[in-house]
Amino acid sequence: MSKILVIHGPNLDLLGKREPNIYGEYTIDAINELLKEAADSAGAEIEFYQSNHEGDIVDKIGSASHSGILINPAAYTHTSVAIRDALSAKKIPLVEVHLSNIYGREEFRHKSLIAPVVTGQISGFGKDSYVLGLKALLDMIDGQKNG
Ligand code: DQA
Repeated sequence: MSKILVIHGPNLDLLGKREPNIYGEYTIDAINELLKEAADSAGAEIEFYQSNHEGDIVDKIGSASHSGILINPAAYTHTSVAIRDALSAKKIPLVEVHLSNIYGREEFRHKSLIAPVVTGQISGFGKDSYVLGLKALLDMIDGQKNG
């Protein structure tokens, strides 16, 4: 059975209350619920993790023994060499997601340090970025199994 780890970075615990015009009305629990339903119907296990602390996210990635990781690194997308290196060391499919279209916002958000080391990135579809990202991740893991 595929085991997926979902990592939400800093301030995503505030979703629903935080700049809903940019990030939408969905809370992190509501997004996790959508992902759980999608994982259940695909017969996959899913674990959720949120942290506001860079080192904790690095530890979580380092100790993960999952089939794939879906990550919204939030502000660390643009700053964290440590999270990039932790992901780069994993030999599993990795999908980066963003609620907002980071390329349509302030210039400092246009650069992702994470994008070069993940399998792919989905940005700009609100909560659906996560759902699409999970689908892409599961398809990729299935593809590996089926050769
Ligand atoms: C975000 C985009 C980041 O630039 C920002 O710092 C976030 C959320 C998104 O999901 O759109 O916290 O990752």
